Amino acid sequence: MASLSSTQINGAASSSMFRSSKQTRRLSTLSKNNRVGFRVYASESSQLEPDLSVTVNGLKMPNPFVIGSGPPGTNYTVMKRAFDEGWGAVIAKTGEKGGVFLVLLVEWLDGILVSLDAAKVVNVTPRYAKLRVGANGSAKGQIIGWENIELISDRPLEIMLKEFKQLKEEYPDRILIASVMEEYNKGAWEELIERVEETGVDAIEVNFSCPHGMPERKMGAAVGQDCALLEEVSEWINAKATIPVWSKMTPNITDITEPARVALKAGSEGIAAINTIISVMGINLNTLRPEPCVEGYSTPGGYSCKAVHPIALAKVMTIAQMMKSEFGDKDYSLSGIGGVETGNDAAEFILLGANTVQVCTGVMMHGYGLVKTLSAELKDFMRKHNFSSIEDFRGASLPYFTTHTDLVQRQQEAVRQRKAVKQGLQSDKDWTGDGFVKETESMVSN
Ligand SMILES: Cc1cc2nc3c(=O)[nH]c(=O)nc-3n(C[C@H](O)[C@H](O)[C@H](O)COP(=O)(O)O)c2cc1C
Repeated sequence: MASLSSTQINGAASSSMFRSSKQTRRLSTLSKNNRVGFRVYASESSQLEPDLSVTVNGLKMPNPFVIGSGPPGTNYTVMKRAFDEGWGAVIAKTGEKGGVFLVLLVEWLDGILVSLDAAKVVNVTPRYAKLRVGANGSAKGQIIGWENIELISDRPLEIMLKEFKQLKEEYPDRILIASVMEEYNKGAWEELIERVEETGVDAIEVNFSCPHGMPERKMGAAVGQDCALLEEVSEWINAKATIPVWSKMTPNITDITEPARVALKAGSEGIAAINTIISVMGINLNTLRPEPCVEGYSTPGGYSCKAVHPIALAKVMTIAQMMKSEFGDKDYSLSGIGGVETGNDAAEFILLGANTVQVCTGVMMHGYGLVKTLSAELKDFMRKHNFSSIEDFRGASLPYFTTHTDLVQRQQEAVRQRKAVKQGLQSDKDWTGDGFVKETESMVSN
C-alpha cells in the first residue's frame, strides 16, 4: 500500500465560480471521475502491474508520455509512427493560419514561390547545434544540450489540417493535440481555432513561447512575455474554443507563474512548460563565427535537451505550487517539458505535479521507440515505491520545497535537538513535553 494519503478531488460545485463559459460548455461532456487536480491518491491494490494510464482534462491516454511540439510531430507519417509506437498523445509541430494565405498567394502568383508572405516562415540550414560533454570536457562525449533556430512549421496549414483529420479517423481513440500560433489579430485567431477544431483534434496547445519566432508580428514568446497581451489573446482563444486549451509557457521570463496564472484565469485548462531557453551555442574558435553558422552569421536560438532539465523542473515546481495554492482542486492540468530521456526524468516532473510529460529532443536523438524505454523505466520506479498509478505519486515531492530562511531554521532546530540528545539537558528549564522521553534517555549513564 502506498504510504501517501488518499484524498478525492472536490466536486464541480466549489469551482464553478471560476469557470469560463467554455469550461461550462465542456463540463457537461466530462465525467466527474475524469477530473484532474493536485491531490495524491492511494490505490486499492499495489500488487498489480503499475498502471501508466492518465486522464487529463477528460482526455484518456495510455501513458503520460506526449510527443512535444517540434520535428517529431511535423507531418502525418511521423505522427502515425508515434501512435504506433505507443506514445500517450501527440502534439503536432506548431502551425499558423498564415500558411493558408501562403497557399492562396502562391496559387495567385502562379508558381512563383518567393513572396513577401512566404518569407514569414522560411527555415535555414544548419539550424541545429549540439553541446557534447565527455571525460575531461572532451567534445566527443554525450549530447547534453541542443540549440535550434527552427521556426514554426513551414507547411501550409491546409495540409496539416487534412492530416489531423486523417489521423483522427484512423486513430479515433488516441489523443492528438494541435499546436497553434498566430498574429495579434482576433479574427485570425478565431478562424484558426475553428478550423483546427473542425478536424476532430482532442485539444489545442497554444504556443505562447517560441523564442525566435517573429516578435515583430507579436507571435510566440512576444505574447507569452507580455501578460496584458497574453490575457487578451487567451480570452479570444478560450471564448472560441470548445475543446481543452493548454498554454505553453516560455522560460525566458523572470517569473513564469505570472503568465501561467493569466492563462488559467483567461480560461485555459492546462499549462505546458517549458519551451526552449534563449541561447548561443558557442563560437567556433577557428573561424570566430557563432554556431549554428548560416553563411557566416547566426542568431540566438532555443536551448533544449538534458542540460535544461533542472531549469525546467524549477519552472514546473513554481507553476505547480501556484496552481495548487491559487487554483486548488480545480480541473487544470500541467504538462512538464524539458530534457526528458529516461523514466526517472519523467518521474521527477510527475513528483512535482505534472499530469503529463512531453519529449521533443529526446525523440530526435533516440527515435520513437523511446516511449517503450520510458514506460519500462517509469514502471520500475513505481514498483520500487509500491505505486500502482500515476496519481499515487503525482505532486508528492511538492510539499518539500520551502524558503531558504526556513531551511536555516530547520537546520538550527535539528542541530539543537541532536545536541540536546547527545549532551543531556543543561538546565531544568530545557525539559520539553514532546521530547521528554528522549531527554530522559540522554541523561541515563548506560
Ligand atoms: C528542433 C526543435 C523544434 C521545436 N519546435 C517547436 C514548435 O514548433 N512549437 C513548440 O511549441 N515547441 C517547439 N519546440 C520546443 C519543444 O517542444 C520543447 O518545449 C523543448 O525543446 C524542451 O523539451 P525537450 O528538451 O524535450 O526538447 C522545438 C524544439 C526543438 C528542439
